[in-house]
Order: sequence, then structure tokens, then C-alpha cells
Amino acid sequence: MPDTYRVIQWATGAQGVEAIRAVLDMPDMQLVGGWVHSSEKDGVDLGTLAGRDPIGVTATRDIEAVLALEADCVAYMPRNTSLEEVCALLASGKNVVTTAFLFYPKALPPADLDRLLEACEQGRTSIHGTGLNPGNLSGVLPLALSGMSRRIERVTLQERADWTFYESTHITFDNMRFGRPASEVSEDASDFLRFNSGIFKEEVALIADALGAELDEITTDVELILAENDHDIFGTTLAAGTVAGQHWRWQGRREAAVRVEIETLWTVGGEYPRHWPRPQDGWTLTIEGEPSMRAHFLSLASYQRDLPMEEHVRAASIATAMQAINAIPAVCAAPPGIATMADLPLIRSRGGFR
Ligand SMILES: NC(=O)c1ccc[n+]([C@@H]2O[C@H](COP(=O)([O-])OP(=O)(O)OC[C@H]3O[C@@H](n4cnc5c(N)ncnc54)[C@H](OP(=O)(O)O)[C@@H]3O)[C@@H](O)[C@H]2O)c1
Repeated sequence: MPDTYRVIQWATGAQGVEAIRAVLDMPDMQLVGGWVHSSEKDGVDLGTLAGRDPIGVTATRDIEAVLALEADCVAYMPRNTSLEEVCALLASGKNVVTTAFLFYPKALPPADLDRLLEACEQGRTSIHGTGLNPGNLSGVLPLALSGMSRRIERVTLQERADWTFYESTHITFDNMRFGRPASEVSEDASDFLRFNSGIFKEEVALIADALGAELDEITTDVELILAENDHDIFGTTLAAGTVAGQHWRWQGRREAAVRVEIETLWTVGGEYPRHWPRPQDGWTLTIEGEPSMRAHFLSLASYQRDLPMEEHVRAASIATAMQAINAIPAVCAAPPGIATMADLPLIRSRGGFR
């Protein structure tokens, strides 16, 4: 176990800046480098990019320069992912924690899985995908609660989120295709939507495998809701008649009965359809079985202080980034290969009350 974990931050978007702040605040972590996509951030101090004092370490767009750095772990948080990049990082001797993909790589096509495992073997490193959802709520919490179960019939995680307040509008409009005609939104309509479905299916497979659900299949369906009015979302117009709601369901079945499912009720513009289920904002985990259990999760900036909406939205990014950064020591200690949320010990806050 190193005295100090040398960390590289890969991308400095909403999650990435929270990760930088977390690393800077950990007494036993040191930020030794950072990759950025944006040309205007190239050469800028990483402390400055995270709204902190300069730390004397600058961001670069040069992947080879990042690969050449000595580091224990890379916090990989780009908008668009690359298995090739992750394999190069792993083969160069750096462990990887990521909020972006590889939540259950055992579900990857065999050739990709082999590539990943070879890279881990070459660098004697591990890869861990985690976050909020996919992450703790769909991967860790169901397993934690299952410790109280005698028998399980069905596990459901329902997420309700209003993306109106999510500043990463590229993800909202370009990747998730809100604001497009309905004909342009389906699992197979784009590489990203296929990718996005894939990561939630990975979560279903992770829980199913960890709890012995022995699924025959994992299916996807999506119901789309069209906006009744125009909405301005951080300067981009979501026009009436375009997609403003996406209700996705990824269901793992055994002999036609749903055993594990993740359901997302996503809206932009705040027009929540009347016929959708009316959970509270946030995430509701239900385990039907003996006993049946339900837990509701909502991250806010505070339950005691009155704070602006942006702060409450940022709370979800903090949760996402912290789950990854808090996992770094466990990932560095894991044997070479894949370290899923079901494999690692329970990740706890390393800052705690300190
Ligand atoms: N697991 C979870 O719970 C969870 C929750 C939220 C987000 N996420 C995922 O975490 C990752 C980061 O999310 P975010 O909210 O920080 O996203 P974001 O703000 O939209 O973007 C992240 C950063 O990616 C870089 N980037 C921009 N265009 C790119 C491209 N074409 N290819 C590669 N990188 C590009 C930019 O880095 P620079 O600004 O440094 O140039 C950007 O700031 C995403 O993959 C997102 O889907 C996961």
C-alpha cells in the first residue's frame, strides 16, 4: 500500500472537477497529472480548473505524456469513452477508476474482455467502474440490503431525474438526444444510446450474477414523451414536439419473470407526464422477497440549509466522483484484473468527519 496515491484526472467536466477537489483534499493522495479534451484547458493548472489555488501541475491533451507519467491510478471521467485508452492506461501500470463505463466488464464481448484482462495483466493493474447510477445505487446498495434477505423475487431500481438542471448539455442534447424527433431516440439509434443501454444492462447483470438470478435475457424498452412547450436549457432550446421525456427499462428475466430491473424516468423541461409513476425525485430501490424492502435515496447539498438549485444538482456530481475517488485504495490493492462493485469491499468515505 503506497504512503501516497499518485492520481491522474482524466477529463475535467462536472464529475472531473469534483474528483480533483476530492484528491486535493485527501492527505494521502497527490494529483500528478490531468488529461483534458478542450484546447482552452490545455496547459492550465489543474487546481485552477477545479476552482482552487494553482498546484503547479498542468492539464494536457497529449495522451502519450499522460501514459509516461508515474501514477497509481487514473480517475477516468470523459464524456466519450475509449476502451483503447483505458487498456493503454492499464498496460502502462496505472489502475483505473471510472464513472463512465466498465461497470461489469464481464458482460463485454469476449474479444474486448480479453483485451482488458491482457492490459491489466501487463500492467499488474485493476479497473473499477462506479459512480452514483450506474454505481452505488444500482450496484452496491442492492447487495448491501440483500444481506437482510432470506429470499429475493425481484430487485428494481427506479431513478427519477429532471435533466433541466444538468449543466452537461452535450450529454443531454447530443448524447441522450433530448430535443430531437422521437424517431431519433431508441436503443439502436446511435452509438451513444446503444452504449448507454449497455452500461445499465451491465448493472442488471452485475446484480443478477451476484445474487444468483440466472437470467435468460436482458431486454430494453423506452417510452418517449414529447414536449408541449419550448424550453430554454442552459441556452439551448428544447422545442415543443421534440423528445422531453425518456422512460427506459432494462429488465433481466428468468423464464419470462422479471428478476432484476433498472428503470429511469428522465425529463428535460419539467413536463412530467401524468401517467408515469410518481416516485419522489431521486432513486427508489425495491427488493421484493422475504422480507420485501424499499429504500429511497436523494442527494442534496443540504437538508438543513436553504441553498440554490445548482448546489443541489452539484451534490449528485460530488456523490458520483467521491464513490470513485474513495475506491482508489481498494482498487490499487485489488489483484490485477476487474474489480467490480460486487468484488471490492464496501467503499467508505475516506474524509469522514475529518
Ligand atoms: N456513474 C454515474 O453515476 C455517472 C453520473 C454522471 C456522469 N457520469 C459519466 O461520467 C463521465 C463524466 O461526466 P460529466 O458530467 O463530467 O460530463 P461532461 O461534463 O459533459 O464532460 C466531461 C468532460 O469530457 C471531456 N470531453 C468533451 N468532449 C469529449 C469528447 N468528444 N471525447 C472525450 N472527452 C470529451 C471534457 O473534458 P475537459 O473539460 O477536461 O476538456 C468534458 O468536460 C461521463 O461519461 C458521464 O456519462 C456517470
